[in-house]
Amino acid sequence: MPPRTRDLTDPDWWRSAVVYQVYPRSFADGNGDGIGDLAGLIERVPYLRRLGIDAVWLSPFYPSALADGGYDVDDPRDVDPRIGTLAQFDDLVAALHAEGIRIVVDIVPNHSGSGHAWFRAALAAAPGSRERARYVFRDGLGADGSQPPSDWVSHFGGSAWTRVPDPSSASGRRGQWYLHLFAPEQPDFDWSNPEVREEFHDILRFWADRGVDGFRVDVAHGLAKDLDEPLRSYPRISRDVVPDDGSDPLFDRDEVHEIFRGWRRVLNEYDPPRAAVAEAWAPPSRLPLYARADELGQAFEFDLVLEPWDAERFRSTIEGALERARVVGASSTWVLSNHDLVRHASRFGLPRGTDLSAWLLRDGAEPVEDRALGLARATAGTLLLLALPGSAYLYQGEELGLPEVADLPIAALADPVWERHGHTAKGRDGCRVPLPWTTGGPSFGFGAGGAHLPQPSWFADFAVEAQERDPGSTLAFYRAALATRAEVTIGEGVTFGEATGHVIEVIREGGWRSITTFGSPAPLPPGEVLITSAPIAEGILPADATAWIRDPALAR
Ligand code: NOJ
Ligand code: CA
Repeated sequence: MPPRTRDLTDPDWWRSAVVYQVYPRSFADGNGDGIGDLAGLIERVPYLRRLGIDAVWLSPFYPSALADGGYDVDDPRDVDPRIGTLAQFDDLVAALHAEGIRIVVDIVPNHSGSGHAWFRAALAAAPGSRERARYVFRDGLGADGSQPPSDWVSHFGGSAWTRVPDPSSASGRRGQWYLHLFAPEQPDFDWSNPEVREEFHDILRFWADRGVDGFRVDVAHGLAKDLDEPLRSYPRISRDVVPDDGSDPLFDRDEVHEIFRGWRRVLNEYDPPRAAVAEAWAPPSRLPLYARADELGQAFEFDLVLEPWDAERFRSTIEGALERARVVGASSTWVLSNHDLVRHASRFGLPRGTDLSAWLLRDGAEPVEDRALGLARATAGTLLLLALPGSAYLYQGEELGLPEVADLPIAALADPVWERHGHTAKGRDGCRVPLPWTTGGPSFGFGAGGAHLPQPSWFADFAVEAQERDPGSTLAFYRAALATRAEVTIGEGVTFGEATGHVIEVIREGGWRSITTFGSPAPLPPGEVLITSAPIAEGILPADATAWIRDPALAR
């Protein structure tokens, strides 16, 4: 019987889907120019089918100046010519759907790219114009307006305001300032403007009409802002300090939910309704609000990406996430890696408490990563999450057990974080290095040419080609894990075994359980072993491993 989620008419597919994130510039390069593209992705659809995923989440592929890896969108209704064409996009949707694989695209509503037609028009228009009202333009402070309108800071470092020339002055006199919570090339929209709201409804329809099954909503917690004069002081950006009462001037404000209720009405115009998942770094108590059925339906649970490899911490975070989803009738959304995070195979191979940003600055030289330990924990962690109710998001390359590339040459760094932080933080390039497909060739099979970020020589060991030959490879494990997940009842029912300090036991409806060991081995409970992340011997599950076991006694 085909897995339930493969039925393209199933409106609930997203509740338990395994979604594979493709960062298109780094997945596969079809024309050998060093940049991943849709042609390369279409060629690899058989690989995705064989992997056993239910959906692809495609990170931004829109025309972009690449000031922030494509999250600076210059035209949200087109494909970057370096990545492909709209016709190829349609081919991709058809190729995925033919395999029963859905497609989720990224939508970036907090800001546009600075090359967007609206922003160029805003720069050319006068203060107070309709063109400027789509963004957040303000006069500067001080007698000559030379001070930014507020002390707000950008996520990527520095002021969140940039001053523009006065368009009425031939001599280049300086004019107003515009807001950008990210890079200067990412001007923030003003979501109190109905024109902005209409525009995004239209963009959602544009892609939904092309067959897109869902949307990943970038910076969902940031759209509504308190822009009343005088602008409030807020000299920091950190999710730790966002209060849980909606009173923050920039993030997680109550008004944001009205925006998403409008989106849900649009998404429900389709049959089946289009799915959506919020990227919202909101306080845990308020995260479920984004996942309400009349809003986006799901919200990423990021708490686990901040956790060390620790049974108690994992368990309480998982239980909290399940509860958060339950209260609004959503399903949980598990993630260990994505294009913004140090890959989890590396995170778990570093001593607890390692400052990852400092580790990257030291090119990963110190502390030395224990790759075997990191991979054991990474696969155990992934198998644990796959055992839970909810959907699981996998990031390209994790199925190969790829570690972070911590020692990229400085000259290669493309993330704005490096420059904007005054060379005190490297940023996210190390998880965005193009994938190794073959053990040789100019870019390990990524394409016929080079790769837009340099691949280290050890990528050969992780290549798909090498792993396909090896039944004990990480790739073989991921394939088996997804195939097993498709066979067992994934359902919503779950209970946890007794907390022991170093084991998490997840008991699932349908008569099976998952056991994960943290730091020391544990005896396996009775039953048929469905899959393990590490070899078992004499009924013992080694340290830092997960096993799924069918036990008919549980079903009774
Ligand atoms: C979150 C995205 O995941 C990240 O890559 C991007 O830099 C910011 N949003 C800004 O769009
Ligand atoms: Ca290319």
